[in-house]
Amino acid sequence: MKMKKNIKDKMGNRRILITGGAGFIGSHVVRLFLNKYPDYKIYNLDALTYAGNLENLKDVENAPNYNFLKADINNAQEIENLFEKYRFDSVIHLAAESHVDRSITDPLAFMKTNVIGTMNLLNAAKKIWDGNWEDKLFYHISTDEVYGTLGKTGLFTEETSYDPNSPYSASKASSDHFVRAYGETYGLPYIISNCSNNYGPNQFPEKLIPLFINNIVEKKALPVYGDGKYTRDWLYVIDHAIAIDLAFHKGEIKETYNIGGFNEWQNIDLIQLLCEIMDKKLGRSQGESAKLITFVKDRPGHDKRYAIDATKINKSLGWKPSVTFEEGLELTVDWYLDNEEWLKNVTSGAYKDYYKTQYSD
Ligand code: NAD
Ligand code: DAU
Repeated sequence: MKMKKNIKDKMGNRRILITGGAGFIGSHVVRLFLNKYPDYKIYNLDALTYAGNLENLKDVENAPNYNFLKADINNAQEIENLFEKYRFDSVIHLAAESHVDRSITDPLAFMKTNVIGTMNLLNAAKKIWDGNWEDKLFYHISTDEVYGTLGKTGLFTEETSYDPNSPYSASKASSDHFVRAYGETYGLPYIISNCSNNYGPNQFPEKLIPLFINNIVEKKALPVYGDGKYTRDWLYVIDHAIAIDLAFHKGEIKETYNIGGFNEWQNIDLIQLLCEIMDKKLGRSQGESAKLITFVKDRPGHDKRYAIDATKINKSLGWKPSVTFEEGLELTVDWYLDNEEWLKNVTSGAYKDYYKTQYSD
């Protein structure tokens, strides 16, 4: 029998732990919750790895309902102590190692943070909540990559079997399984959502869109993996945050929701569009940025195509993307061009070493 979620009935004084809130998606989720629910206490737990950046939350850091906790989810005792101290009643878990290329060079780091780190949170929730599941929720944020790759046709639904191909997606699949297992075995109330490729402000420039924006600004080569004919389904990050808000408040316990943009692009077509937008914004002649396109060696185990069937969240929770890809991409480009300082800060230091290792033959 399905357990009905009571979270929406007791919204007044929730104490929500958001992990990974200094990262790309997490910072948009933290901002949305702080602004929309001033009565909630929001605890942003983040280890501030290379991908975590408190600059992402500058505009809301003084909100009276905001607390930042610098902590590592790999430290089981520290996590349990924080649960004990702050008595969170729900968790929105985004903290993760998130970049596929890094998972190929250092798979163990992904196993540690994404699997053990998730288990540390599950164990702390299980221990402190101690069977008092009413009003509790463990909301785990996952990815469409757990489903593996699609051929030319078809879409990932919530019933698609898991078939992960990269160390990143294997670690996310494993964490999804543990969340579900804690629900089945101990009764821990959970929701999981699996989302497609996000883009938008504050994304670290290791991912395709911000990396290419930065390289176009700097007139550096645009390294397209393989033949560039790989397909992804792109979603504006704020639309993902809105979907998370809906699933958190209105989703059913023990359910999975697929979230996607209904927006498939082959990499090479997306890159051409980005080059056109950038030429316009930078006052360069049309075609100038596209000259930077350089085909480079492929990513090992590169998934050919991802595409989400988001019918379930659309029909049951009334969610759909609010911006078109063209609008979202223009907003994104504008944000990066207006936030030169942010981009400079995150691309100095260790980024240079990462770039050299990743993109030298
Ligand atoms: P990100 O890499 O931008 O941010 C990850 C955040 O987690 C950073 O702030 C980092 O400091 C923090 N973190 C990492 N290891 C930690 C640890 N051991 N302890 C505490 N904090 C730690 O990632 P993102 O792109 O914002 O992704 C967030 C979540 O959404 C991830 O779980 C990812 O798998 C999932 N997701 C991402 C996408 C996407 O397109 N980016 C799509 C679907 C799902
Ligand atoms: O599908 C959801 C996933 O999307 C998330 O779970 C991951 O956290 C997120 O990183 C993203 O994974 P991808 O591997 O799809 O994203 P990335 O931006 O790394 O790559 C997008 C596509 O662009 C992919 O086909 C690889 C290609 N690419 C990427 C880079 C960084 C290039 O051709 N060149 C590049 O330099």
